[in-house]
Amino acid sequence: MSYLFPNYSRKSIELIKGKDNLLFDQNGKEYLDFTSGIGVMNLGYNDAELNQILAEQAAKIWHTPNLYTNQLQEKLAQKLANNQEYVAFFCNSGTEANEAAIKLARKATGKSKIITCINSFHGRTYGAMSATGQESIHQGFEPLVPDFVYVPFNELAPLTQVLDDKTAAVMLELVQGEGGVLPAEQAWVQKVAGLCKEQGILLIIDEIQTGIGRTGSFYAYEQYQIEPDIVTLAKALGNGLPVGAMLGKKALAQAFAPGSHGSTFGGNKLAMQVAENVVTRINTKEFLQQVQQKGTLLLNGLNQIAAQSTQVQDVRGIGLMLGIELSSSELLTEVMTQLEAAGLLTLRAGSKVLRLLPPLTIKEAEIEQALQLFSAVLTKEG
Ligand SMILES: Cc1ncc(COP(=O)(O)O)c(C=O)c1O
Repeated sequence: MSYLFPNYSRKSIELIKGKDNLLFDQNGKEYLDFTSGIGVMNLGYNDAELNQILAEQAAKIWHTPNLYTNQLQEKLAQKLANNQEYVAFFCNSGTEANEAAIKLARKATGKSKIITCINSFHGRTYGAMSATGQESIHQGFEPLVPDFVYVPFNELAPLTQVLDDKTAAVMLELVQGEGGVLPAEQAWVQKVAGLCKEQGILLIIDEIQTGIGRTGSFYAYEQYQIEPDIVTLAKALGNGLPVGAMLGKKALAQAFAPGSHGSTFGGNKLAMQVAENVVTRINTKEFLQQVQQKGTLLLNGLNQIAAQSTQVQDVRGIGLMLGIELSSSELLTEVMTQLEAAGLLTLRAGSKVLRLLPPLTIKEAEIEQALQLFSAVLTKEG
């Protein structure tokens, strides 16, 4: 018997070693990784620079409570602000970053209503789960936190109907990740941002999956030319070391006065050192340009395969966050199994989308190798 809760459906392989964009299981089988550990390992596995930074900090001090000055937090917060007027709160995961965002929005506005999207995913704790617009995730856990309202993604009229003077915030993913790799439309996002500004409603952008270079800009919101009031981050921020962050506009800072919110582990020194290196390396013009180029290479290749396949219904995404919508959920399971057997690890999103999140360090030759495998599996007549 297993001594674990059965809340995850696990495959029988165990990944015991990684190097760059490759993973190895307990039997020594090699896999090309197109999962990044669900959008986490943006700099790949076993990175020598990160290993050294982590070891050096581990030899000094791991943890200090948030009762004392923490210059590493200051340094990372400044980098994350990206020359804009943001201040940061550090935590340990995406769901906690969103909890902080929800709490800040309510405290700063004195209002409770928060509008999120149908099919969104914001996390599993009560606030973040209540923000998540998916009934299957709520089932059995009701009553939820009150005053969350769900509207269709990429539609303006239903959203304008629910915006009112009781609304604290609108909370969005710019590419719905877990929901099926669905990019938000630029015009819609800009209209929503404009309406929020006009009506004094805060705009929260959940960049937990889209941030840290994943879409080819450091934050996805840069490509939408908007300025969110609150941004949440986690996943790739620590390249595997648990860390999350909530950024808020400076004008909101006073709402989180001493005693209002906190986390024992949040912003610990190991996580801060690692995250600072991750952000410094990813947030450069050259690195992000490469992500864009590699994203285009992968997208073009997938579109070519789609044109020859009766199994592919759509190919979409931004940067290196791409999805292939297949004709059924059963087919998706079969395709993922075949790819795994051929040495390529992929992810599922929504009911029938094959989600591709390779490390941002993926090489062009590795993309070509993956495309050959996708072609072999997806253009095979069943
Ligand atoms: C957009 C988004 N928000 C929040 C979360 C929750 O993050 P975590 O699993 O670190 O709590 C996820 C995780 O998949 C996510 O994709």
